[in-house]
Formats: sequence, C-alpha cells, structure tokens
Amino acid sequence: MTAIAIDGPAGAGKSTVARAVAARLGYRYVDTGAMYRALALAAIERGVDGPSGLAELASSIELGSRDGRTLLNGADVTDRIREADVTARVSAVAARPEVRTALVARQRRVAAAEDVVMEGRDIGSAVLPDAPVKVFLTASLEERARRRAAETGEAMTGVMAAIEERDRADSRRAASPLTRADDAVHIDTTGRTIDEVVDEIVALARAAESAPPRADRG
Ligand code: CDP
Repeated sequence: MTAIAIDGPAGAGKSTVARAVAARLGYRYVDTGAMYRALALAAIERGVDGPSGLAELASSIELGSRDGRTLLNGADVTDRIREADVTARVSAVAARPEVRTALVARQRRVAAAEDVVMEGRDIGSAVLPDAPVKVFLTASLEERARRRAAETGEAMTGVMAAIEERDRADSRRAASPLTRADDAVHIDTTGRTIDEVVDEIVALARAAESAPPRADRG
C-alpha cells in the first residue's frame, strides 16, 4: 500500500487539494479532521466531557464515509460537523491523548488496506511516518481566512480570530501537535491555483512511485 500524507493549518486548502490528488491517482481520500469533528459532535450530542467518556466514545462510535460524505453511526453529518459549535469544540477533543490513540489506530487500519491520500495535522509526523510522499500545505492567515469566509459566509474578522485560535491550540498541544515533518515538502498555496498545487503533488507521487522504497535509500 502507498500513502500521501498532507498536513497543514486550518484553511490551507488541504481538503480540496487532497480530494483532487486522490481522484487523479485513484487513491482513497481520507479526511482525518472529519473524524475528530464527528467525535466532537458525538460528545456534544451526548454531553460527554471527561477523558474516560471521550476515550470510550472514540472507540465505540461508528465512523464512515461514502461518496465524500461523513457518516456518524450511520447518519450523514457532513454539513453538521462544519457548524460553529463543533469547530469551537474540536481542538480540545483532538488534544486528548486517549482520543488520538483511538482515532490514529482507525486511520492506520484504513491506510494498511488501501492506497490513500490522508489529510490532517499529524499524518506525516505521527500517523504514517513512513509515507513516501509528505506535503505540508500552508497559506497566509489572510488568505486562509478569506477562503474560509467565502466557504461559510461568515464575517472575515470572526473567521480570522477563530482560525488563529485553532492554529494556536493545534500547534501547542502536547499530543502530536500540528508540525511539519522534517522530510515533508512545504508548499505555500498563497496566490496559487488548486490545479497548480495538485499537479505539483501528483508529480511528487509519480516520482516516489519510480524511486526505491524509503528503507533502501541512502
Ligand atoms: O478543515 P479544517 O482545516 O477546518 O480542519 P479539519 O481538518 O476539519 O480539522 C479539525 C480539527 O481536528 C483541527 O483543528 C484539529 O484540532 C483536529 N485534527 C487533529 O488534531 N489531527 C488531525 N489529523 C486532523 C484534525
């Protein structure tokens, strides 16, 4: 199995780019953020807050995806998990080590069964450290906020503050924080089109396909 790991902060364009790269290569697209968001939603719905409740929820909920939609216990929650209450809660849920252990195990199972383009915060650094292609996508804060505001219809100032807050929480947490793996290729998407970025990553994937496996390289 092979994997492309795409990490980066909120609004860097990971989902759009990762989905397009997966379609081009015929790999499965895995949005790990949607898994943390679905868990945060389950916690909100059931009023679960403490570490043991979250750990229990993380290993018992049914998570799935079909035709690009996210399923939580069989229900389509794709739109619901993008709402502000889930967004405000997700980083705190994702910071819990027992939550990460449970969801990372699920993510690794998917990557062991299929070729994947997996997108998140810690894919290249922690979930799939042997991925032959690792990309760290960034864009300026202004551009990221602009994209997110256009997506959700919210006001720029509020979106920018929320993104900054989430970047801070995701980067400072103790358990596998948002970080660029040493061997990840940094791509700044500011002012670049989606197609340009997708082409660049597909080229990296093709180059990796024809290169010897990591362990054999000097
Ligand atoms: O799409 P957006 O950039 O808004 O975020 P997301 O990818 O949906 O991820 C939502 C949140 O889940 C992030 O802010 C992180 O707190 C958490 N997350 C994580 O901790 N590790 C991952 N591999 C993916 C997401």
